Amino acid sequence: MSYSAKFWDKIAESYSKQPIADRAAYQKKLQVTREYFKPDMEVLEFGCGTGSTAITHAPYVKHIRAIDISSKMIEIAQRKADAENIKNVTFEQLTIDELTVSDRTLDVVLGLSILHLLSNKEEVIAKVHKMLKPGGIFVTSTMCLGDTMNFFKVIAPIGKFLGLMPLVKVFTTKELSNSLTDAGFAIDYHWQPSKDKAVFIVAKKAALVD
Ligand SMILES: C[S@@+](CC[C@H](N)C(=O)[O-])C[C@H]1O[C@@H](n2cnc3c(N)ncnc32)[C@H](O)[C@@H]1O
Repeated sequence: MSYSAKFWDKIAESYSKQPIADRAAYQKKLQVTREYFKPDMEVLEFGCGTGSTAITHAPYVKHIRAIDISSKMIEIAQRKADAENIKNVTFEQLTIDELTVSDRTLDVVLGLSILHLLSNKEEVIAKVHKMLKPGGIFVTSTMCLGDTMNFFKVIAPIGKFLGLMPLVKVFTTKELSNSLTDAGFAIDYHWQPSKDKAVFIVAKKAALVD
């Protein structure tokens, strides 16, 4: 089992009990995302954690495939979906690298609080771009630690070494936007509640290209 899977398995129960840090910002992100949804849409969420967002969005789309590297996160997510009688979300323990999806088959991909945890975010963004139908959207919410926390560049590897932190990559908002546009996305919506908060971006695949 990878370091990352072990780390997230270990904290899954406590993660599921943590209250949402900024409820107003979370609600706004849900609302903005929902404006892109249609009832016939096929959605993927990667790094879905304990499933709250997928469960909340489920009534607004046809189906959500929600994956996470951590089997413990998925267990909790499935339990919550069963308790709420949600039938159109499929939870699977799978990494974004292991996932195979046919090209141009998805309407929306959600990657929330995950891009800064990947060693290969450019590859993942390119993969998401391929999976999306023309005109499809990629919704991300990402800590861009390069904007503010330079000391984090020193702390993060130590925290990871001690098993206290997951892998965390440091990049700026500008670098994230560039990664998305380099992959062929256009930034359709950009919002950051405040300077130290995650950057919320809706990126759109062009309607008429591959
Ligand atoms: C910070 S949590 C975010 C969870 C959820 N998206 C949220 O916003 O609350 C990051 C999640 O990504 C998962 N994860 C980390 N690396 C992953 C990978 N390579 N593929 C899929 N999931 C991954 C972790 O297990 C964890 O549940």
